[in-house]
Amino acid sequence: MTTSMGMKKTRRQQGVSSRVRPLTSAEGRQGTGRGLQGAAECAKDSEEVQRTLRKLTALSSLSAVLSRMQEVDPLLHEVLRTILDVLATDVALIMIFDAEAGELRVRAAQGVPPEYVQDVDRLKPGEGVAGRVFASGEPLVLRDAATDPRITRPIVRQLGLHALACVPLIAHGRTIGVLVTATYDPDREITDDVDLLEAIGHQLGMAIENARLFEENVRVRKLWESTFNAIRDGMSVHTRDLRVIQANEALSRLLGIPKEQILNNQCCALMLGRDVPLPNCADVRATSQVPCPATEVIERPNGQILRVTVDPLVDEEGRVYGTVHVVSDITEQVLLERRMARAEQLALIGEMAAGLAHEVKNPLASMKGALEIILEDLPEENPHRSVLRHVLDEIQRINRIITDLLDYARPRPPTHVQTDVNRLVEHVISAARVQLANNHIALEFQPAAELPTLLIDPDELQKVVLNLLLNAIQAVREDGRIFIRTHYDPQERAIKLSVTDNGEGIPPENLDKIFRPFFTTKKRGTGLGLATCQRIVTGYGGTITVTSEVGKGSTFTVTLPVQAPLTQRVSHMVVLSASDSSPDSRRGGNTPSLVSSAQREPDDAS
Ligand SMILES: Nc1ncnc2c1ncn2[C@@H]1O[C@H](COP(=O)(O)OP(=O)(O)O)[C@@H](O)[C@H]1O
Ligand SMILES: [Mg+2]
Repeated sequence: MTTSMGMKKTRRQQGVSSRVRPLTSAEGRQGTGRGLQGAAECAKDSEEVQRTLRKLTALSSLSAVLSRMQEVDPLLHEVLRTILDVLATDVALIMIFDAEAGELRVRAAQGVPPEYVQDVDRLKPGEGVAGRVFASGEPLVLRDAATDPRITRPIVRQLGLHALACVPLIAHGRTIGVLVTATYDPDREITDDVDLLEAIGHQLGMAIENARLFEENVRVRKLWESTFNAIRDGMSVHTRDLRVIQANEALSRLLGIPKEQILNNQCCALMLGRDVPLPNCADVRATSQVPCPATEVIERPNGQILRVTVDPLVDEEGRVYGTVHVVSDITEQVLLERRMARAEQLALIGEMAAGLAHEVKNPLASMKGALEIILEDLPEENPHRSVLRHVLDEIQRINRIITDLLDYARPRPPTHVQTDVNRLVEHVISAARVQLANNHIALEFQPAAELPTLLIDPDELQKVVLNLLLNAIQAVREDGRIFIRTHYDPQERAIKLSVTDNGEGIPPENLDKIFRPFFTTKKRGTGLGLATCQRIVTGYGGTITVTSEVGKGSTFTVTLPVQAPLTQRVSHMVVLSASDSSPDSRRGGNTPSLVSSAQREPDDAS
């Protein structure tokens, strides 16, 4: 520090000798009488010109530094160096008022050791020279700081400072701090430079304030950006012509489009791949005659369902200049709602079917009986015989629909017992043997050597296997072959049962429809077989999948977890206790009653 201060002194002395002393000494040596007086005046003018020139240079070089000032601190030191240079002083200090602490803090210093900075830091308004200048807004010049009583901090004296000037830093008519400059040279006076220092104080004050505003701006922008990006919903700002000018990261993730590709594009192109907005687009509605928020739900080509809420951006005159979009992905929610609506619908159908079946089945059986008696009595050649046969066929058909509907609707609670799946499959196969034989179908069953038992309602699982087998029988033509296989997957802890046929196969466009209730491609089908299978299998926490090739055949695979999910087991317990009282449920045990219903179905489907 001593070295650098020493260097400063040398440089200052050089400055002084080139600016002031040559003139003084020239005046002293050269002038006599009037000539002397003229020379003195001339020297005075020249000194004045030089001073003005110096001030202008100072201000212009300072302006150059300040114009580059965007961040407060890095450039303050450069400003101080410039001040020391042009004023030929030794010490320069900038103190800024910290409104929160209510005191002046040293923001930058040149030409003093750190102890000095520590000592003069934290001055209250009115305290010491800097505090007075800050409080009054008026500059102060001390001829000798070492002896001036207005100096309160001892370090100023210890350091041996002499001339000292302090001016306010002013921005927008408000004092925001002070600029101090001082010299170690007892011969150097700063009084003449006070107006220059004041001008610098104004310029510097404005520059610091602007830089502070700029920093604040950057801080607010960063805060805004990080908040914008922290929001989990997609957000974007749009111009009136629907172009995106701002988008957060959530939107980019949600749409699967990089942010650079989102910006400057129209939202309808990004969301829907459309050139023009939808006729009822929420953005158009939000910015129509009366600006108001608008919401729309759109389904993207990839199946994603988005809720878009649009709020208009309105200027002071009430003109809409853009919109803010908040986008949330509600695919899961909508699908769940749809599933629930469907489940409700199905439950309703179930109730209706059960009621209908009871009401219709008995009269239907009476009608069938009566018609059969009439048919028996009619002579062979009677033309009404064919009409009656047709009516009987139709009664049979109604009966089948009702039976299938009852299966699908499950009007009675299931009865869960430990079930041997291999045995169950064998029962189903034997129930369908007449059909298999009539259609010359070769069936192979490959049971798993070891299969854990399943806690399941055997009647229900039997319906699954029977439906799959009937579909396979109905799908194959001549040389029909059906292959049934069971096996245990230890990793999944699940039993897998597959039914493969070499039948007509399922066209790809039908693959996602075949499990829907009432979807059928058969003339006499009900479209309830696979829907029933799915209802039963998913009820046990399992899955049913299909692979198929048109003209080659299909494989349906049922996967049933050996350990049902907890909720499932709880509901089993409830059901078991609920049906405990019925003699039917106790009859179950390990020997489920399979034959009666299994025999009925193939006949029905024939
Ligand atoms: N093994 C199969 N081979 C070809 N198509 C099948 C097979 N199983 C089911 N399907 C198709 O799925 C549809 C729905 O089957 P299902 O729900 O059992 O109703 P249904 O048998 O009364 O038509 C059938 O109409 C048929 O188009
Ligand atoms: Mg079927």
